[in-house]
Amino acid sequence: SELIGMDFNLSEEHEAVQLAARDFAQNELLPGVIERDNAQTFDPSLRQRMGELGFLGMMVPPEYGGGGMDTLAYVIAMEEISKVDASASVMMSVNNSLVCWGLEAFGNESQKQKYLTRLASGEILGAFCLSEPEAGSDATSQQTLAEDKGDYYLLNGTKNWITNGATASVCLVIAQTYPEKRHKGINCLIVEKGMPGFSVGKKEDKMGIRASDTHSLMFSDVQVPKENRIGPDGFGFSFAMSTLNGGRIGIAAQALGIAAGAYELALQYAQERKAFGKAIFDHQAIQFKLADMATRLEAARLLVYKAARLKDQGKDYVQAAAMAKLYASDIAMWVTTEAVQIHGGYGYVKEYHVERLMRDAKITQIYEGTSEIQKLVIARGLTK
Ligand code: CAA
Ligand code: FAD
Repeated sequence: SELIGMDFNLSEEHEAVQLAARDFAQNELLPGVIERDNAQTFDPSLRQRMGELGFLGMMVPPEYGGGGMDTLAYVIAMEEISKVDASASVMMSVNNSLVCWGLEAFGNESQKQKYLTRLASGEILGAFCLSEPEAGSDATSQQTLAEDKGDYYLLNGTKNWITNGATASVCLVIAQTYPEKRHKGINCLIVEKGMPGFSVGKKEDKMGIRASDTHSLMFSDVQVPKENRIGPDGFGFSFAMSTLNGGRIGIAAQALGIAAGAYELALQYAQERKAFGKAIFDHQAIQFKLADMATRLEAARLLVYKAARLKDQGKDYVQAAAMAKLYASDIAMWVTTEAVQIHGGYGYVKEYHVERLMRDAKITQIYEGTSEIQKLVIARGLTK
């Protein structure tokens, strides 16, 4: 594959973003992260802070209320925030890479004015609704119907596992208009909370990212104005796939951050904890674990940065995004498990943070396309 002229130094702007995200994560997210995980809640005031600091619309052009930054800046911020709180970062990832980017890339001017500006500033939050109870990986098999009724669509069905499900004011809903056309008969509609017939189902009680609100959403004869369709008739599946390509870079950065957070804690702990008359870091078995962790982290970071750079350069990043997500999520699971091991019994209790990071890591192998689906995407690209 081609060389992309990678500069291994971050620019001053990127360093400033890293510092701002690190400060926010350490000073404002870290206190209370264990309590939020226990209570399965995320304070609205923290979400508001993330909006004020510009973390909810980082890549959106300033004329639509965003930060006008590149994808590299976004993944750098995602890594820092995910080191501490992956529930905050999944909310951030969905709003930035799926909802805002989707609207920016494919929405029309009036949709951008009406929705993107408020989403980018963090005034309101968005959700991306593709998965269903009976259709996750096999996304073209969805059952939600958007019947064409002239000047509106009649929406019926259930979406499952929706991140920001309860808190989002605006939902991008992917639904079938011409089931016989399969993926070419699908549309994406902008659906507002409060439209009659739209209801929020139960909150999922999860292993990890417990402070992120995951809900099913139900649509019963919801009338969605035609002007709320994104792109031409039948563009919805293309919309979903294109948007997810960028989303996968965000989740790869999340996985990288979870792993980096656990690694930093383990490295520090290994130098403080003593056993058999010396720091456990001085036992080679522990040192070698940390060496492997640091190496895999570095490899994952390069893949994430490469995918981000390709996107910023306007090049094809489908395969690079899938590789970054596949690899970063696998090493996140491995690194966090080793971090718990290095902490011994202390690693198994909540106070030391690594058990939460291990629980949070698991989801990165599942959402925005499971690891198996990433391999499918990568493999299809191999013979192109
Ligand atoms: N980029 C662009 N287009 C893509 C694409 C990609 N990565 N993958 C597929 N497509 C296009 C194909 O080109 C094809 O279009 P054409 O016929 O016009 O060429 C169309 O999509 C259908 O593709 P396939 O024929 O390959 O269909 P398939 O059913 O065999 O496979 C799939 C499709 C790749 C498995 C797809 O269904 C998929 O990605 N599934 C995973 C779904 C997913 O990632 N869900 C995430 C939900 S959001 C979420 O999870 C958010 C969160 O957690 C926070
Ligand atoms: P299935 O598709 O049933 O897969 C089950 C197993 O079979 C997996 O291991 C899978 O990899 C494997 N498998 C399936 N097909 C193949 C194949 N062809 N080859 C090899 N193996 C295969 N979705 C949204 O739309 N929006 C959201 O905001 C959102 N947020 C989420 C948040 C959480 C916490 C969770 C748990 C999920 C979220 N999802 C969201 C849904 C998520 O994207 C799906 O769970 C995921 O795509 C997998 O779908 P599934 O659960 O139906 O599993």
